[in-house]
Amino acid sequence: MRILALETSCDETAAAIGELNTGDKKITLLSNSIASSLKLHAKTGGIIPEAAARQQSAYIIPVIEQAISTAHVTLQEIDAIAVTYGPGLIGSLLVGVETARTLAYLWEKPIIPVNHLIGHIYANFIKDSTNQKQPRLPAIALIVSGGHTDLVLIRDHGEIKWLGGTRDDAAGECFDKCARLAGYSYPGGPKIAELAKKGDPNVFQFPRPMIGSHDFEFSFSGLKTAFLNETRQRFPILRTSTEKIGWEQIVLEKHITQSQKQTLYDLCASLQQAIIDVLITKTIKAVRQYNAKSILLGGGVAANEKLREGFESTVALFAPAKSLCTDNAAMIASAALFNYNPSSWRDITVNPELYFS
Ligand code: KG4
Ligand code: ZN
Repeated sequence: MRILALETSCDETAAAIGELNTGDKKITLLSNSIASSLKLHAKTGGIIPEAAARQQSAYIIPVIEQAISTAHVTLQEIDAIAVTYGPGLIGSLLVGVETARTLAYLWEKPIIPVNHLIGHIYANFIKDSTNQKQPRLPAIALIVSGGHTDLVLIRDHGEIKWLGGTRDDAAGECFDKCARLAGYSYPGGPKIAELAKKGDPNVFQFPRPMIGSHDFEFSFSGLKTAFLNETRQRFPILRTSTEKIGWEQIVLEKHITQSQKQTLYDLCASLQQAIIDVLITKTIKAVRQYNAKSILLGGGVAANEKLREGFESTVALFAPAKSLCTDNAAMIASAALFNYNPSSWRDITVNPELYFS
């Protein structure tokens, strides 16, 4: 079984061809193409949905052509087309879904609609140099991206139960908004992680919201506010130059003394540690409650090294290669191959509000 998958739910335009190995039941990627419009969004300090969709309309065909030519397959050798149909930005999703519908009609192939969040989980089933073993089920998946923080129980393929999620900001959003205060544009998580390497995570005792709650819910907006208050208090420049606040704002690191820099690094390390402590504690709690055999990380924040290292669990931890943590079409191919649910092109529509059903 070989699938061409498309992913356009946010700012990336991606196409990949994957196949399911009948032997080890893992996904082999024949190609994985991606065009990013990150530079465009860096200029505006965030994603403008219409601008993202316009860019994706221009990129989608060349990206698909590249995926097909890299894979060296003919159209006859592609069995189906998979596409992300939600959740995401409506204009962006429409680019992928309408392209998939058109190709499915022209090429007479079925379509497999894929939930983007479930795609993130299935990045763990792709064969690559870092990920040789097959996750065992039941598994607990922690999906941590810019828009989502969710814990999910995977009893079996197609048998998924949502356990809890964030009540306000997502973990990635918390990283992004805190990074923005220090003058860094989206995505801020890698920047905080980089600054945190030079800092001490024990200097600031930031709150660990909901760490002891009896459910699997999260909340990161209070932690974000605690970081913002502490940082503004330490660096008066952030209070006096209000006209610079926003995406054009100064990069704090360039305007402070060496000893102040150390404070900034300590703030970043302490923030990162607080986020990680909550994520790990809640994930382990879910593993124990459901006797899970594996932990599957997914989403951009899963690229965070401290988070990966922090799981000293007896349960096998799976985390995709970093390039497969952030949005890509390979994970959509993987989800479709394990949950083969073909539909006609006539029956597929976008669902921007889609969640776990
Ligand atoms: O999954 P993703 O690429 O896009 C969404 O679907 O949102 O996730 C993007 C998020 C951003 O918030 C970004 O700051 C965060 O992932 N991120 C990280 C790291 N790399 C990306 N957060 C912390 N540490 C990282 N190394
Ligand atoms: Zn995503």
